[in-house]
Amino acid sequence: MMGQLPMPALAFLECSLCKKKFEPGKVYNLCECGGPLLVRYHLDKLRETWPRDQVAQGPNSMWRYAPVLPPRPESIVSLGEGMTPLLRTPRLGARLGFDNLWIKDEGLNPTGSFKARGLSCAVSMAVELGIKKMAIPSAGNAASALAAYAAAAGIESHIYMPKDVPQANYIECKAFGAHVTLVDGLISDCAKLVAAGCKTEGWFDVSTLKEPHRIEGKKTMGYELAEQMGWKLPDVIFYPTGGGVGMIGMWKAFEEMETLGWISPTKRPKMIVVQAEGCQPVVRAFEHFEQRSQFWENAHTVASGLRVPKPLGDFLILEAVRESNGTAIAVSDDELLDAGIQLASDEGIFIAPEGAACVAASKKLLSTGFLKKSDHIVIYNTGSGLKYLEAYSTRFPRS
Ligand SMILES: Cc1ncc(COP(=O)(O)O)c(C=O)c1O
Ligand SMILES: [Zn+2]
Repeated sequence: MMGQLPMPALAFLECSLCKKKFEPGKVYNLCECGGPLLVRYHLDKLRETWPRDQVAQGPNSMWRYAPVLPPRPESIVSLGEGMTPLLRTPRLGARLGFDNLWIKDEGLNPTGSFKARGLSCAVSMAVELGIKKMAIPSAGNAASALAAYAAAAGIESHIYMPKDVPQANYIECKAFGAHVTLVDGLISDCAKLVAAGCKTEGWFDVSTLKEPHRIEGKKTMGYELAEQMGWKLPDVIFYPTGGGVGMIGMWKAFEEMETLGWISPTKRPKMIVVQAEGCQPVVRAFEHFEQRSQFWENAHTVASGLRVPKPLGDFLILEAVRESNGTAIAVSDDELLDAGIQLASDEGIFIAPEGAACVAASKKLLSTGFLKKSDHIVIYNTGSGLKYLEAYSTRFPRS
């Protein structure tokens, strides 16, 4: 609970497809047209009252951006999420051929991944709206984060995840006291079971983008990057894309900060979607100039967070990538594990396979000429390597 923070400058929620408006302070999932809802704020008013220099006076967490986050201060459930380090990686940079390569290390969040940001926000809103039971289909890390924040809030959590999720995710959820169901299938199969349970059991569905507040937490990755860079943005952002919420959220954050007058509207980073070869629906849609992705059959990769065969917000991801003159690229599991180990031994940072996929992708895009040596590049490492011991142990078998 953070009573001393300013109130949110909430205006309304807006459907990302049909633009219908909804009043704040109520429980929502999708718009009746099927579109995800986005939260809108009184940014013009905030522009007058909330200069960017004031941000540093807030807490050392993502809640320093409280005026552009939906919960009231007294509802906030925080475990210290956000304000993760932005680390320069000169040795790896020199090896790959970059002068200015950085890692935003989201592995230092509670429960070891960036999912903490979205679920801190969603659980805070659940507290505010009186929701008592939450349910989630997850590739793994979102489950751990929901279980942790629900425990902190005294809310019941119901978790559905593939039966082969990393052991860390399963053990965390159990330790946090969640109700866990392991499913013989993918996140898309888990989503169907959650939807059915929500109907019969009265759970609130916290699925990616079906719940409008997770994205608000995740957008703070964009605010934070600007603040850490002295209110500038890099030339290029690499983002490991599953459901794509981080990508959509950061794009929203850039727009909001431009309206607030905090960053220059003249230049946005090129946004680069990175997926795994065994599950690359967004890459395929990008390459085929399509607005929506198609379901990726037989999805498989050790980067379990990227095993999302059909992201609900695919059109929003593709919009951000295209508007930014970015691109979308897939790498193999071998390439991403090699890259993760290279980064670890060069820099002392042990990253998740999802983040490692971005390292591998950066090397490829330099060789194709898409990137320049001098580009200022930020790679989002979305989780800690410690959560993926099964994947990395294939490289270091113990006799
Ligand atoms: C470590 C990690 N990276 C990336 C992703 C993909 O996240 P997003 O839904 O924002 O694309 C996930 C999702 O589970 C994840 O756990
Ligand atoms: Zn709509």
